[in-house]
This record gives sequence, C-alpha cells and structure tokens, in this order.
Amino acid sequence: MPGLVIVGAQWGDEGKGKVVDLLAEQAEVVIRFQGGNNAGHTIVRERETYKFHLVPSGILYPGKICAVGNGVVVDPKVLTEELDGLRRRGVDVSGLRISANAHLIMPYHLLLDHAGESRLGKLQIGTTRRGIGPCYADKAARLGIRMQDLLDEKILRQKIYAAMEPKRQTLRPFAKDPVLDLHTMTEEYRTLGHRLEPYIADTAPIVWDALDRGNLVVFEGAQGTMLDIDHGTYPFVTSSNPVAGAACVGAGVGPKDIDEVWGVAKAYATRVGAGPFPTELEEETGRRLREVGREFGTTTGRERRTGWLDLVALRYAVRVNGLTGVAITKLDVLTGIDPINVAVRYLGPEGASFDTFPYHQSILHKSVGDYVELPGWEENISQARSLDDLPANAQAYLDFISEQLGVPVVMVGVGPARDEMLWTGAAERLRPAAA
Ligand code: IMP
Repeated sequence: MPGLVIVGAQWGDEGKGKVVDLLAEQAEVVIRFQGGNNAGHTIVRERETYKFHLVPSGILYPGKICAVGNGVVVDPKVLTEELDGLRRRGVDVSGLRISANAHLIMPYHLLLDHAGESRLGKLQIGTTRRGIGPCYADKAARLGIRMQDLLDEKILRQKIYAAMEPKRQTLRPFAKDPVLDLHTMTEEYRTLGHRLEPYIADTAPIVWDALDRGNLVVFEGAQGTMLDIDHGTYPFVTSSNPVAGAACVGAGVGPKDIDEVWGVAKAYATRVGAGPFPTELEEETGRRLREVGREFGTTTGRERRTGWLDLVALRYAVRVNGLTGVAITKLDVLTGIDPINVAVRYLGPEGASFDTFPYHQSILHKSVGDYVELPGWEENISQARSLDDLPANAQAYLDFISEQLGVPVVMVGVGPARDEMLWTGAAERLRPAAA
C-alpha cells in the first residue's frame, strides 16, 4: 500500500500524531497536506515528551523525509522555533522538506484572527488564533505569500505591501504596532527565509518518486473531518479541508496514488472551540473523560469538551473520506465506565430522528444522541498487545464500532506509550519492529 492517508475522523485531537509516528518507521516519506500550527501532536518517546505543531510526526526517525506539503500554511517563526527546540534535544531534522508553494502566516494574519474573533463576540468560533483563517483567505484571494517568496527580498516586500494594503481598514487599531512595519517585517521574514532555505523544496516530486518505487508514503492530516470547511459543522470549522481528498491537492498527487485511508477516532468524542456537539457530556462522566483522557489542547491548553462516541458522525466520516480502516485511540480511558453509551442516531427537533448526519445547521444544533448502552469493563487494558488480550466487553465495543461503520478496526490505542497500541488486519505488517 504505497499511498496511505491518515485523517482525523472526529473533531481533531484523535491521536493522529502517535499513529503517524508509529507508521513512519516503515515509510519513505511522511507529508502533511493541510492546516498549520493550529494542530498539535504530543509524542512520547523513551519517556521524553515531544510536542509538534508544524513538523510532520515522523521527524524523530533520523533523516526520515518529512515534508510540509503545499496545502499547509506555515508560520516561519513557529517553524524555526520548533526546529531549534528539536535540535537542542539532539533530534536530526535533516529530513525536513518544506514545499516552496506552502503559504506563509504573516504577523497581520495573527492580528486579523484575533480581531475577527473579538468582533464576533458571542458568535465566535473559538479559533486557535494562530492566523490560520486569514492566511487561507489571502491564499484564495491570491494575495498570499509563499515559502519561495522568502528567498527574494524585492518580491517579498512587494507582496507584503500588496497583501497589507486591502487590510488597512481592519488593521487600523494596530497601525502603530511595530510588527506591521513593512521594512521590519520584510527584514524579519528575509532572515527567517535564510534559516529555512536549506529545507525549501519541490515536495511533490519527492512523493512521486517514493510512490513510483512502491514505497510507503504517509499523508498526514491535521484537525478532523467535522472541522472541514466544506464537510464539517460550518462555520465552526477550520479554514482548510482535513478530509482525505485534500491529501491529493495538498501534497500534489492524484486520487489513484491513494491506496488506503485510515480514520483515527477516539473511543469517545471531544471537541475544542464552539459549535454543535450532539453527544456532549456536561456532567460527571464528561469531567471524568477530561481528567482521565487528559483532554486539554496541545496548542492552546484549552479544556476540551467531551462526549460519548458519535457513530452518526463517524459513519459520515467513513463516507466522506472513503475510509478503508479505522484506528481507535484511548480505549483505556473508558475503563471503569459502565455502561458505556454510544450514539447510533440523533434525536432532532419535533421528535425527528436521523440515522445519517443532518446537513442543515439548525437541525444539527438541536440534535442530541440516541444511545445504545454497551457493557463496560474494569480490567486495566494497558498491557494488552493483541485484540485477544482485551476483556470480552472491550472486544465487543470494538466489534460494535466496526459493524456500525462497515470498516475494520486496524489499530487500537490502550495507553500513551509507543508499545501501547494493538495492530490488526491491514495494519499488522506496518507494525514497527520495537512495538
Ligand atoms: P482555526 O483552525 O484556528 O481557525 O480554528 C477553527 C476551529 O478549529 C476552532 O474550533 C478550533 O478549536 C478548531 N481546531 C483547529 N485546529 C485544531 C486541532 O488541531 N484540534 C482540534 N481542534 C482544532
């Protein structure tokens, strides 16, 4: 399976980073295809914890080609800081490649993100305030500045000027902010360009070559299906497409280059930021999931909202992404909860019931889960290394998910450590040597 796409099947934070990190060992290339440093991955390696925001999750394998695709938006300050941090810890980052066509998050994007959210007041989206939306907006408006522009001062200055001019009105409250000075900004970004130059590359041919050789390429998604700007709970979404189709656009390959698409889902559900969440739990069980699952954002530290597993949204994710497998993470967090509820349909306004994901926002906002109760388990499952090691009720939980989704479970997370992952079915032959 040379082309394997890994996407979030819920609202992000499903544990994609760990899944990609484990798969990376067998891969020739790992490439991110959308999003930016709104993402956050925590990887635990030999008792050390690493937090990534931009660099693909495979970077901990020395020299592994880890590419930031053209579909990603890059804050060069954040990237250089992330690289400095990794180098200080002795990590070899020589395998990093950044697409020359990736768009740059500029200082005014951050200010616009803040200003936009403040203006929305109670209606705010709860963005990560990393400038993601304004950067993608400039890309679509053809006012974006790309990685390659960092290498030519004259062009960089012209483009910054052209991009800032139409924003004058909105940026007026920050007019005296030194970060908006054209000269200072150009100088600063030129310096960042010098530092990043060794990594700037034409990333698509790197992927093509690996695929042509029949080697594994992992396309790493960020955020999740329900945060997709087209298919998610708009407007409470991010400004890119976290769905699998975007792997082609954001990395520069065609649909035929994709062999498998695995969706990562937690054994329950979480969401950060505002927007509909039909299975949300606000009482004791919700708090328990947050505490036991350590559900606090890697990027913003915000408390995540928690809820029961939502199979309506997950069946939708299977279809939208064309999932061929599902990786269930954090199964251990459910240990000791009995019974466990799982939403199999939604109950909407006026007694309506929905087996499929309702497209209309007003309906979704008023929908709540209609649950089946599944029996829980008390045993500590973190020592399990195959499905057979799991208590019967945990196995039955996974079987129920797989039946409802119509796709096999390929990986199961039973704890944060690298070896606390079960590999089954199509994933078995991608199991890293040490796991
Ligand atoms: P933005 O991507 O910063 O514009 O934020 C838009 C929405 O997506 C907000 O609800 C964020 O909380 C959410 N979001 C963005 N990135 C992530 C992520 O990596 N995990 C979970 N939620 C995210």
